[in-house]
Amino acid sequence: MIIAAILTVSCQDAVPLYKQADAPIEKRVEDLLSRMTLEEKILQMNQVTLGTNLNQNNIGGEQVEPVLGSYITYTATDPTEINQMQKRAMEETRLGIPVLFGFDAIHGFRTVYPIPLAQSCSWNPELVEKACSICARESRLSGIPWTFSPMVDIARDGRWGRCAEGYGEDPYTASVFCAASVRGYQGDDISDSTKIAACIKHYIGYGASEAGRDYVPTEISSQTLWDTYMPPYQAGIEAGAATVMSSFNTINGTPASASPYHLTQVLKEQFGWDGMIVSDWDAVKQLVYQGAAADHKESAWRAVNAGLDMDMADLCYFNHLEQLVKEGKVGEKTIDESVRRILRLKFRLGLFENPYPPVTTAEERFNLPGDFEVVEQLAEESSVLLKNNGLLPLGSKPGKIALIGPMVDNYWDLIGSWGGHPLAEDIITIKQAFSDEFGPANVLYAKGCDFEGDDRSGYAEAVAKARQADVVVLCLGEKSSWSGENGIRSTLALPSVQEQLAFELKKTGKPMVLLLNNGRPLELCRLEPLADAILELWQPGIAGGKPAAGILSGRVNPSGKLSITFPYATGQVPIYYNRRRTSRPFMGFYQDITSDPMYEFAYGLSYSTFEYGDIREVCERPLTFEISVTNTSSLDGLETVHWFICDPVSTVTRPYKELKFFEKKLIRAGKTEQFRFEVDPLRDFGYVDESGRRYLEKGKYQILVKDKLFEVEL
Ligand code: NOJ
Repeated sequence: MIIAAILTVSCQDAVPLYKQADAPIEKRVEDLLSRMTLEEKILQMNQVTLGTNLNQNNIGGEQVEPVLGSYITYTATDPTEINQMQKRAMEETRLGIPVLFGFDAIHGFRTVYPIPLAQSCSWNPELVEKACSICARESRLSGIPWTFSPMVDIARDGRWGRCAEGYGEDPYTASVFCAASVRGYQGDDISDSTKIAACIKHYIGYGASEAGRDYVPTEISSQTLWDTYMPPYQAGIEAGAATVMSSFNTINGTPASASPYHLTQVLKEQFGWDGMIVSDWDAVKQLVYQGAAADHKESAWRAVNAGLDMDMADLCYFNHLEQLVKEGKVGEKTIDESVRRILRLKFRLGLFENPYPPVTTAEERFNLPGDFEVVEQLAEESSVLLKNNGLLPLGSKPGKIALIGPMVDNYWDLIGSWGGHPLAEDIITIKQAFSDEFGPANVLYAKGCDFEGDDRSGYAEAVAKARQADVVVLCLGEKSSWSGENGIRSTLALPSVQEQLAFELKKTGKPMVLLLNNGRPLELCRLEPLADAILELWQPGIAGGKPAAGILSGRVNPSGKLSITFPYATGQVPIYYNRRRTSRPFMGFYQDITSDPMYEFAYGLSYSTFEYGDIREVCERPLTFEISVTNTSSLDGLETVHWFICDPVSTVTRPYKELKFFEKKLIRAGKTEQFRFEVDPLRDFGYVDESGRRYLEKGKYQILVKDKLFEVEL
């Protein structure tokens, strides 16, 4: 590959078709493709990292000339940096093809909001869409029009640290939040100067990792692939997702990044999707480790022929594709098809017309008026009140609060993995938030212990502070790096140094609230009995401790509900609500512990109390159900109604319960709201077969809302 030959100044005909902004995109793509040499095409099919690589799991990465198709830029937050490189691509290359810059803005660019797992606990997709649109604006104005988000891997084993990055255990929930996030990033038109291309990942089945280990093979039946893992991808594609990332795992023996079935037959042919597929980092090269290729040349051969359009980081395409074409092992048509998809994306992003983001100051790009309120509200609605024996809310004057734990005076661990580019001063620590909420004189702080290790020397100070206080607020949790990529843990329990601190504090006899910051469900069987109240904050982003302080004082009424099951103990995982039926429902339980979870899917408390009426069929065509929910308390509250269905008898056995719809509404104190579920029988009662074909069987179906049940016959 001779890059120098491509870095020559263009002397083209007047205005070639591909440069004519008003010509149809497909015509521009074909025109440009017809002018490109094989080398130029192959360059487009590669992506490398630019600058320091912040993700320790992204190993390797050479630096090459900025004439490739795409760059991941982990450090750039300023358009002038991007513009310098883009200028070279636009002005010094023969055809002036803009570079596509990408970045993992997973839950915010600078204005960082809660991790995706938390987002789904808000059951507020409109709010998630708004947060994603803030992220899009900040990213695009910084010169980065592509994010590797949303991650929609279904995760049912909390040991797998990447459960933090997705929307939990349920395919429907993940589908709804996937679509919301794609809409937030992309809007109606990705050429808009404040929008970016989304990338749904990791396609596919990555979350089915055995024993929570990352990068390992997965075994997923065709049935489960279609009924569990595929729906969020279908939803993302229907929402217009511009790109998809292929995953690291092998699936039933074939690496996902080299699977003609998954990449070409399903995505491109069955779904008729015309977007672009990028590999995950080094996934092409890793085919060798997976035993699917003898060397990197064979890796490139397998991946490109499977339909993988762009090679992230490992340069296997860069180094081998030209030779593979010359040897006849890869057809030029295959190359053209991938390049067509890459160019189409660049045209759709408007990069040919507007390659340079405007030069703006950080103040003009980030944290604009109203942004903080959105991410704060999302953090409030994502927080889940798991236990309350009546201690909460504390009120605004609860006396002295002993604020204890390794999370209290901590910035970065409030952010979570893939934390974007927040500044320390953007993040409100728990300590700061409690001082603001309750007054500094009322907050007695002690760290107590670190996240892990054996140092218990801080216990004494913590216990002393607890004795002086009226209430103890204990802030425990995980470091950001414990979840996310390669964040694997053998147990969901917090380290014993943290658990034991709780035991010591309990001995003071003071009422105790447990605040949790973590990126996965936790094993709480020992901590739960010690606490009068438990609030799950997840990793809330820059709003940090403010939502927690507001919920504890009662300024904010909690409304989050779990999108992932909390087991009683780690030995129960994988555990999830929508498991298939067992052959002996009355047997098959653990001998040593309960078989029930600690907190089930969709569980979460409010300070309001809600009373549910019965499910009523209110219309036959379209088949519509209603349920009334009354706020029986004197406090306005948000309530989410989850509509499940059950198909008790079917050819392919189905889960006990399947979520099909949810809705969140504000119910004023003492008032009643109607919640409505309009059924599309094929969509909501139907099922998919092993090839993804949806069908509907005659018979009885049940509609379930909490303990209410309504039976219909089709
Ligand atoms: C590897 C991760 O698996 C993926 O999620 C991420 O988008 C890429 N690296 C790029 O950073």
